[in-house]
Amino acid sequence: MNTQHVLITGAGQRLGLHCAQTLLEKGHQVTITYRTEKVGVDRLRDMGARCIQADFASDDGISRCIDEIKAKANGITAIVHNASTWSSDTPEQRGSIFDNMMQVHAKAPYLINYALEEAFRDSLKSITHISDFVSQVGSTKHTAYAASKAALDNLTLSFARKWAPAIRVNSISPSMIIFNEHDDAAYRQKALAKSLVGIEPGESVVTNTLLYLLENAYVTGQIISLNGGRNLNLP
Ligand SMILES: NC(=O)c1ccc[n+]([C@@H]2O[C@H](COP(=O)([O-])OP(=O)(O)OC[C@H]3O[C@@H](n4cnc5c(N)ncnc54)[C@H](OP(=O)(O)O)[C@@H]3O)[C@@H](O)[C@H]2O)c1
Repeated sequence: MNTQHVLITGAGQRLGLHCAQTLLEKGHQVTITYRTEKVGVDRLRDMGARCIQADFASDDGISRCIDEIKAKANGITAIVHNASTWSSDTPEQRGSIFDNMMQVHAKAPYLINYALEEAFRDSLKSITHISDFVSQVGSTKHTAYAASKAALDNLTLSFARKWAPAIRVNSISPSMIIFNEHDDAAYRQKALAKSLVGIEPGESVVTNTLLYLLENAYVTGQIISLNGGRNLNLP
């Protein structure tokens, strides 16, 4: 693969961090955004990543981030929208949670893609949205989250059409990839039983799919499921 300059949002931990580390280890240039200073951000800095602090919860935060990327980063070839927040619907905060989910998962990618397509028209070749399996089946507990990821998948379709053939745009749509530290044994058992494969696959299945999308010139407008056959785990 030619050397890439990949922008990854929300890469201070877990999946985003793993993608960023792998790309750096393979000799690619990486710029990340992070919301909170943490060990993972330091590690990426030490490996040579450019790290930009950004909070997408407000339009101002998105706009400041775009300005900083344009001022500091050259020749971006790929964008990976990974930043995410996961909240249950609660009766007291329904409106604000819905707004926040849409802001982080749909509006931030929408505005960043438009701005960076214009700024990096000579170099930008691919955009990857990290979505979620629930965008296809909905969620009874994380309804606003699921709706915002469905909006993100729809942006994949529109941008793939709009910017072809110059920029390929795809979604990676995972179900459970890694547990959170606080997930208890009962939760883990229930989550594992939802897929046909029944494993916690780990970050590398996402990173490998990202590497495939960065490289494969014939894949665009696709929503690539990484769900261990969960859609077929029928009664
Ligand atoms: N992990 C899974 O099993 C799984 C399953 C399905 C889909 N996914 C998707 O895969 C992606 C990565 O998952 P993950 O588990 O690695 O996520 P994660 O651990 O929750 O990390 C998400 C990152 O996004 C950042 N972020 C949150 N709100 C933000 C905001 N307002 N502005 C800017 N950044 C913000 C967080 O920053 P802080 O460090 O400040 O919190 C965090 O570093 C997400 O898009 C997620 O929806 C993951």
